[in-house]
Amino acid sequence: MNVEDVVQWANNSIFDKTGEHLTPLQEAIVTGVWQRQKYPQIAKDYNCSESHVKKEAAKLWEKLREELGEDLNKYNFRSKLEKKHRVSQNSKSGHCLLQVDNINIGGQFIQTIEDTKIRSPNPPESPQNQARSPIIDLTDAPELPYFYDRTSELSTLKQWIVQANTRLITVYGLSGIGKSAIALKLIEQTQTEFDYIIWLSLTNTPTLSTLQTELKQFFGRSPQPALPTIIDYFRSSRCLVILDDVENIFKSSQLAGQYLAGYEDYGKFFKQIATSSHQSCLIILSWEQPREITALEALNLPARTLHLKGLGKESAEILREKGLADEEKWSDLIALYQCHPSWLNIIASTILEFFDGSASRFLTDNNDIYLGDLETILESHLERLSESEKNVSHWLASQDEAVDISQAPADIELSKSEFWQAIQSLARRGLLEKVQVGAGALFLLNPVFQQYIQSKSNPSSIKL
Ligand SMILES: Nc1ncnc2c1ncn2[C@@H]1O[C@H](COP(=O)(O)OP(=O)(O)OP(=O)(O)O)[C@@H](O)[C@H]1O
Ligand SMILES: [Mg+2]
Repeated sequence: MNVEDVVQWANNSIFDKTGEHLTPLQEAIVTGVWQRQKYPQIAKDYNCSESHVKKEAAKLWEKLREELGEDLNKYNFRSKLEKKHRVSQNSKSGHCLLQVDNINIGGQFIQTIEDTKIRSPNPPESPQNQARSPIIDLTDAPELPYFYDRTSELSTLKQWIVQANTRLITVYGLSGIGKSAIALKLIEQTQTEFDYIIWLSLTNTPTLSTLQTELKQFFGRSPQPALPTIIDYFRSSRCLVILDDVENIFKSSQLAGQYLAGYEDYGKFFKQIATSSHQSCLIILSWEQPREITALEALNLPARTLHLKGLGKESAEILREKGLADEEKWSDLIALYQCHPSWLNIIASTILEFFDGSASRFLTDNNDIYLGDLETILESHLERLSESEKNVSHWLASQDEAVDISQAPADIELSKSEFWQAIQSLARRGLLEKVQVGAGALFLLNPVFQQYIQSKSNPSSIKL
């Protein structure tokens, strides 16, 4: 959504309501606030007093409240508008489509695609380098209310898809870290590369054959004749398939990435996607890496893995959107919760509820990481660990610093091989961080997970 769209949207909204257009100063305020400028800067650029900007801005927010909510202000204007609207670029015509997205992102995408389908009834025949109008089904995708940053991760993923023609991509990381969010953004930014895009969730653990039937039904929506296998569709057209929540087909209480009984054929399917020749891409979103994928990458096949970590400094936008106070303390809060977007959202809600939004009061007297509502999420990660991983996690949680793993510690009843397997598995779940110290690497447990493990061993140690 660019700033011209925003100004146009604000102008139209106000005109519909009052019959008046934005004043030039209001236009400057919308532009400035969208670009995260403060009122003094807007006043300086517009050559007027700050109090004049404030007065005009108050009128502006009042007029837009009906559209964006009663609590609208300069801090949340951008995020509220991004939530309300999605911009879908039609690169073929260069026309920018502003879409209202109040309920379900999937439904909205389908609407756009139905529209483009009419304009381009034979997408698979499109020449290679021409922008396509894909058939898209995002019914299974979650809603994406806000999206910040991820510039470098998006650029890596786009490079893999567009330049390197990578056939199999795994994005793994902790629950709530933003895997689905980044995949939705990626679709928005790469959709014209594809003829078909579909999002399927494995939450209800469909068998591979059910999944393949669903895929064939989707590909069957196009006018081209039905094909016998998924790989045939992957060859004849450029397809993007997102498989979300893939951890559901892996065993719990076992080392990471082992398929449930009856689901082993998924491993073969993934391998076939990486090894067969075709022009499509399958993206796996999961809490843990499938085991065979590392081997495929090691063989230099077109398969890549991205370990998705925290958000970086844009995490502050989450706290801003929540309306937290004491901005000077936000970086401490963000560091404490590892820039993890969901954790920050949850903790910010706690701070609003119990500390009137004061990050500073929350952080005072709080040397431990307060877990609160994060416990349920962390519990679901702990439940999935094998006995050896639990053993190693307890040992790691008792360490004050990053550790050398070249030898199994004496106080753990595991062979060196079992110890290394457990370490590798914890890393494949994104629970272990690697720290480079000089020429060697040391390892430490995610600090929030570490706090959780410590609290399980000593429940009275966690205080608000
Ligand atoms: N880039 C982002 N900008 C803003 N908020 C984000 C971002 N990424 C994630 N979030 C927030 O975190 C929430 C969880 O993100 P998401 O659903 O993508 O996580 P996930 O990794 O897919 O989790 P799960 O594995 O449990 O499905 C989102 O609803 C959103 O509130
Ligand atoms: Mg998800």
